Amino acid sequence: MSFPLHRPRRLRRTPFLRDMVRETQVEVADLMAPLFVVPGEKVEREVASMPGQYQLSVDMVAKKAARLGDLGIRSVILFAIPESKDEVGSAAWHPHGIIPQAIKAIKKAAPEMVVVTDLCFCEYTSHGHCGIMKDGQLQNDPTLPNLVKQALVHAESGADMIAPSGMLDGMVASLRHGLDENGFSDMPIMSYAAKFASAFYGPFRDAVQSAPEYGDRKGYQMDPANIQEALREVAQDVEQGADIVMVKPGLAFLDVLRAVKERFEMPTAVYNVSGEYAMVKAAAQKGWIDERRVMLEILTGFKRAGADIILTYFAEAFADLRNKGMA
Ligand code: PBG
Repeated sequence: MSFPLHRPRRLRRTPFLRDMVRETQVEVADLMAPLFVVPGEKVEREVASMPGQYQLSVDMVAKKAARLGDLGIRSVILFAIPESKDEVGSAAWHPHGIIPQAIKAIKKAAPEMVVVTDLCFCEYTSHGHCGIMKDGQLQNDPTLPNLVKQALVHAESGADMIAPSGMLDGMVASLRHGLDENGFSDMPIMSYAAKFASAFYGPFRDAVQSAPEYGDRKGYQMDPANIQEALREVAQDVEQGADIVMVKPGLAFLDVLRAVKERFEMPTAVYNVSGEYAMVKAAAQKGWIDERRVMLEILTGFKRAGADIILTYFAEAFADLRNKGMA
């Protein structure tokens, strides 16, 4: 099996030969674009730490979704910066809140777009934690009914999928039960099943003003050192009825992604998070890396590691390049 009989370089000689034997191909349809919705009209405010990403008012988010749809993107995931925050995050289940408005506007502008909504409270609470707090601790079980309320409001507003991201125990079971009881048994759940307490979320917390006021999220998000625990988390979510399971962040957790895909054979998503995006953008702005090639390499790496769905701030840029034959 060795040289000189075998010469792997034979198939690397020309672009067409390389195309013939390429094992992994990222498609525009694999990508889900995160969008940040803010109150107001005609607002398009760039996030300082995420060049090319914007806080958008409802009218602008609808426009953006239409443009993404024209590029071939099939899904978006919505995050909100609400008008007001309180101790429990009650703006999250306001029937005419910012997310319900955005869902309806997107459905009008791009009817086929799969509209996914992130379910969590950190954007809605005054303290920035992902639910009800008591003595500095996130209260798991009391938060679950609120999560169901949020899900029902999104479902009633026309969302196509919900994505609980708070790493609460039992969140998938509670949601499945709550949705089924209220006539939404067809609503899929994409669970942030293995979500790690990561420093890579920094720029996102800027974008939605959700940095915790005190403490951190290590009491509910996972220790980045743990893969076996990640598999147990995913197993629980699958058992509780998750339709899609997610690993987050992506780059430092490709082994987890691969293990989850192999073990559960579920539709598997990965979140290419804000810090991962910001690093590429910053290095590219300095002229230190080739942004286009680094982006393609990262997205390809996720797919090769087992991702079926990639949530990424590069979605629009990738789709644009693909349509121009440059990716
Ligand atoms: C909300 C949520 C976060 C992200 C997605 N959903 C932030 C967090 O957990 O602090 C991060 C996304 C990103 O960094 O791009 N719970």
